[in-house]
Amino acid sequence: MNTANVKAGETVMVVGVGGIGINAVQGARLAGAKNIIAIDPLENKREKAMELGATHSFASTDEAMETLTDMTRGQMADSAILTPGLMTSEIVAGGFNAVGKGGVVVLTGLNKLEEQNIELPGSIMTLFRKSLKGSLFGDCNPTVDIPRILGLYQSGDIKLDEIITRTYTLDQVNEGYDDLLAGKNVRGVVIHSHD
Ligand SMILES: NC(=O)c1ccc[n+]([C@@H]2O[C@H](COP(=O)([O-])OP(=O)(O)OC[C@H]3O[C@@H](n4cnc5c(N)ncnc54)[C@H](O)[C@@H]3O)[C@@H](O)[C@H]2O)c1
Repeated sequence: MNTANVKAGETVMVVGVGGIGINAVQGARLAGAKNIIAIDPLENKREKAMELGATHSFASTDEAMETLTDMTRGQMADSAILTPGLMTSEIVAGGFNAVGKGGVVVLTGLNKLEEQNIELPGSIMTLFRKSLKGSLFGDCNPTVDIPRILGLYQSGDIKLDEIITRTYTLDQVNEGYDDLLAGKNVRGVVIHSHD
């Protein structure tokens, strides 16, 4: 909603449907996007995305290109929000190719700090007026956005309980990391016991 500035009727691609990406899907839906294409190699992630507002889902950006081209009559996506576990130059290029004229590619996923993971044709970027933007914590302003998000949760417009695949005690935290790496969880949550 904030970094890609999604508007009603737009086409948004979300690449990587984990704890972050599932909420990019929900944000795109709330902002009124017409087409929300969720990309994830794992079927459980794609299913959750479809449940929470995605209109289409594919295992890779490449597989989405034909449908994306058809549904937008070649204009392509207005934005691509990249939320994979590990950002690679292939994923950045996939998002760059998926957006059309004036399209915005949002980089949320991370990699090693020194990793060179952006390799793009600059002339196409200029001629198509595409832009690439980094986003930290959804570019939110906690003072106003956290109460707003809580209100949207209370009214049922943002689903938070539904995205929790499993909860863990603090003692089970390593199991939680194993499940995260194995792709089992859309969102795993550690519950601190107070007794
Ligand atoms: N910018 C920020 O403010 C911010 C904040 C927190 C986390 N992060 C970063 O965001 C990223 C996502 O975090 P998360 O907690 O959602 O992780 P996660 O592991 O829950 O989700 C990542 C998802 O990406 C999918 N994926 C892996 N390779 C893919 C590919 N080639 N194409 C499409 N999908 C692919 C995985 O299957 C998984 O569903 C991480 O890199 C994390 O470090 C950024």
